[in-house]
Amino acid sequence: MAARSSAAESRKAPYGRGDTSWFRDARFGMFIHWGTYSLAARHEWVRSKEQIPQEEYQKYFDHFYPDLYNPKDWARMAREAGMRYFVITTKHHEGFCLWDSKHTGYKATKTPWGKDLLKPMVKAFRDEGIRVGFYYSLLDWHHPGYPVDCHHPQRNDAAFREREARRDVRTYAAYMRHQVTELLTQFGEVDVLWFDFSFPGKDGKDHTHWESEKLIKLVRKLQPDVVVDNRLDLPGSGDIVTPEQVQPRTRPHEAIDGIAWEACQTFSGSWGYYRDEHTWRGTDELIRTLVDCVSKDGNLLLNVGPTARGEFDHRARERLAGMGEWMKRHSRAVYGCGPAPAGIVPPQDARLTYNPKTNRLYVHLFAWPFKHVHLDGLAGKVAYAQLLHDASEVDMKLEQWYIDQYNPGKSTLTLTLPQMQPPVPVPVIELFLK
Ligand code: GLC
Repeated sequence: MAARSSAAESRKAPYGRGDTSWFRDARFGMFIHWGTYSLAARHEWVRSKEQIPQEEYQKYFDHFYPDLYNPKDWARMAREAGMRYFVITTKHHEGFCLWDSKHTGYKATKTPWGKDLLKPMVKAFRDEGIRVGFYYSLLDWHHPGYPVDCHHPQRNDAAFREREARRDVRTYAAYMRHQVTELLTQFGEVDVLWFDFSFPGKDGKDHTHWESEKLIKLVRKLQPDVVVDNRLDLPGSGDIVTPEQVQPRTRPHEAIDGIAWEACQTFSGSWGYYRDEHTWRGTDELIRTLVDCVSKDGNLLLNVGPTARGEFDHRARERLAGMGEWMKRHSRAVYGCGPAPAGIVPPQDARLTYNPKTNRLYVHLFAWPFKHVHLDGLAGKVAYAQLLHDASEVDMKLEQWYIDQYNPGKSTLTLTLPQMQPPVPVPVIELFLK
C-alpha cells in the first residue's frame, strides 16, 4: 500500500511507494508501442535514426488512419495470452499523443482519423479484467520547448540548432506535468506509469530537465498507488526496476527493499511495428523467458507493435496465441508465484516457481529428461505430484533396482516421468508440498 511510516522506509522511498502487490502477482503484461512511426514501419526511433526534420515526418501524421483499430480485439488477445496488465505508449519520443490532450495539437484527434484512441483502449482492456498502464515519453522531438540534444532528430542540423538555441526546458517540464495530470485524472485508476527515459551527461537530459521531483510528487498526489518505473533519474522515485531487452541472470541487485522488477522485451528487436524485421523469437523461448522471470521474482512485459491500420501483426498474433495455449494450462505456475523457498535447487535444465499461498512448487522442464528428475532435499516433503497440463499423476516411488544401482541419496526425491515429452512446449510438474 502507498502509506508507509517507518523512518527507514521513508528514507528509501522519499516520495512514497505505489502498490506493487497486484503487480507481483500478475507477472505477465503487454507493452504496446503505437504512434505515427507505425506508418514508417521501420522502428519507433526512425525519426531520430534517419534524422528526419519535422516537416518531412509530418506525412505520417497526415496519413494516420487506423481503420481496423478495434481495441476489444487487442484486449481479448492480451487476456487470452494470459497477460494481466498492459502498458500503452500514450506518447512516445516523437511526441504524438494518442489521447485528446488539451495541451497539444499533435494528437490522434487532429489526424485524418480524428478520434481519441486511448479512451476506448482503456475501456476495452478494463472490460477484459486487465490493469491499465501508461507509458509516457520524457523525450519529445516535437515540442517547441524541448531543447535539442544528442538524440534529437535535428541534432546535426546546425542552422536548426542555432535557431532553436533558446528553447526553455522549463516550458516543456510544465507541459509534461499538465499532460501527466490529464492522464492521471481523465482515465480512472491508472495502475502503472512508465516514464522513459533519462540520459544524463553531455548533450543529455536528467532529473533537472524533467523536474523529476515535482513530477513524481504530482504523480503520488494524484494517484498514490500507481506503480512507477525507475527512469526519472531520481533515486527513490521508482517502484520497479526495468531491465530492457535482456534476460537478467539473477534478480537485479537494485530490486530490493520492496522494489519489484520487470523485464521488458520485444518479439523481434523493434518496439514499434517493423515490417521488414524478420528475426522473430519463437513461442517456446518466450514461454521459457516468462518462466525464468517468475523464477527470479520478476515480471515480463512483452511488446506488441500494432500496424498503422490498427491491427496486431500476424507474427505477434501467432506468438500470443501460442503463449496463451500454454498459459491456459499452466498459469497457476505463474500468477502469484515467485522463486522457490531458499535452499531448494532446481534440477538440471529446469526452473522452479513457487506459490507461497498454496504451498505448491512447480518444476518447469526446459528440456525433457530421460525417465528421472531428481530434487535434492525434497524426499518426504511432497504429498503429491502431477503434470500440470493434464493433472496426471507423477510417480514418486523409486524402483528398487534404481536405488540399488544408482543410489540417488536419502534426501533426494526422484520423480519418474513418462518416456515421451507431453505435447506442451514447457512441461510443468506440480508438487504439493507437505
Ligand atoms: C527505450 C527506447 C524506446 C522504448 C523503450 C521501452 O528506452 O527509447 O523506444 O520505448 O526503451 O523500454
